[in-house]
Amino acid sequence: MKVLVVGTGAREHAIADCLKDDCELYCYMSKVNPGMSKISEFKQGDEGEVEKVAEYAKENNIDIAFIGPEAPLEKGIVDELEKNGIKCVGPSKSAARIETDKSFMRKLFEDYDIEGSLIYKVFNNYEDLSAFLDDFEEDVVVKPVGLTGGKGVKIVGDHLKDNDEAKEYSKEVIDNAMGGFAQVIIEERVIGEEFTIQAFSDGKHLAPMPAAQDHPHAFEGDTGAITGGMGSYSDSNGLLPFLKQEDYDKAVEIMENTIEAIAKEAEPYKGILYGQFMLTADGPRLIEYNARFGDPEAMNVLPLLETPLIEICKSIVDETLDDVEFKKQSSVCKYIVPDGYPETEHAGEIIEVDEKSIEEIGAKVFYAAVSLEDDGIHLSGSRALGVVANAETINEAEKIAEKACEYIKGNVYHRRDVGTEELVQKRVEHMEEILQ
Ligand code: GLY
Repeated sequence: MKVLVVGTGAREHAIADCLKDDCELYCYMSKVNPGMSKISEFKQGDEGEVEKVAEYAKENNIDIAFIGPEAPLEKGIVDELEKNGIKCVGPSKSAARIETDKSFMRKLFEDYDIEGSLIYKVFNNYEDLSAFLDDFEEDVVVKPVGLTGGKGVKIVGDHLKDNDEAKEYSKEVIDNAMGGFAQVIIEERVIGEEFTIQAFSDGKHLAPMPAAQDHPHAFEGDTGAITGGMGSYSDSNGLLPFLKQEDYDKAVEIMENTIEAIAKEAEPYKGILYGQFMLTADGPRLIEYNARFGDPEAMNVLPLLETPLIEICKSIVDETLDDVEFKKQSSVCKYIVPDGYPETEHAGEIIEVDEKSIEEIGAKVFYAAVSLEDDGIHLSGSRALGVVANAETINEAEKIAEKACEYIKGNVYHRRDVGTEELVQKRVEHMEEILQ
């Protein structure tokens, strides 16, 4: 069987790594990923040029395409590939609106009475939103309706001082049609601990994966700019130290109700559904969905798969998805990023990665925003590579991942606190305070 992985980053490297022994692997990537290029036939090209991707897939008689990032989904890559007879793990353009159009997502919750949503309102002019915010006494979150590469969301109490600053930022979002819509979505800000559940979906059934927790702040102690995610961990029992089975089950139920609603409102959702939840005093509330694996969270769960990914892919496209098994191990992923990140002053510089030593201590590397050139691995300016370790406990996995980071040389840094006992305990205590 021939499988094409579309995408360039660490998430796609982790997907490709899981597939490599069980199929003829092809990759379509915008930069030469040092890991994916070693294990596949590949073409370098813009993943957003969906006709060209489909042409490449047809030329190579691809059976299944696995779409990594959200941007090609929004451009209708799945519709284009399927028009050409290629089955896909990834939702159609209309089903992917669960991520690409946040007002569609919130309205779906409303229309189908799905629990766990937030108070929200969509605006297309300053006057109405200003009047709304004058009356709304709680802190809010401002979100562009469309895709902004994870950089458009601003939270009062975090990036914004108060609801007056929220007004100004909302105006900017509308005036600049940020994310492709001259609209803004205002949501209530909920307090708690965030967690991620990713699930495979064949359009009718969900197979959920172990929960994970990402760390969006750039610096240790949850300080600094919000980034795409600096690292994440998961626990051997599939839960998190602050997340109980009943909360996990509730979140999965919300996701099941969502795919049922998408099938009625759009098309059956085939692919990966990523639910980002806030665990609050009232249980899990849905912050947002992504129509793809999380990055870094994909790196937590994919190496733990016991059911071969190729079998899961076949069952998604054939609509016969069953339960999926994972090893009962914990995982810690730490992202190595250029010094100064999210600034990009070190873009273009070379880094050295001693993969052999990293593997010898039981860790793995998944390459992200780097490119392999004749003289070595060059930073692109964004998150460079994920280092992942699995072990019996989060604590053991953290120690291995931390040791592995020593084998990467260059102008880079990482968050040493991701997955440490101290930080995990802080999360547990925070949740205990909220539940009091
Ligand atoms: N970890 C955040 C994301 O994948 O969007």
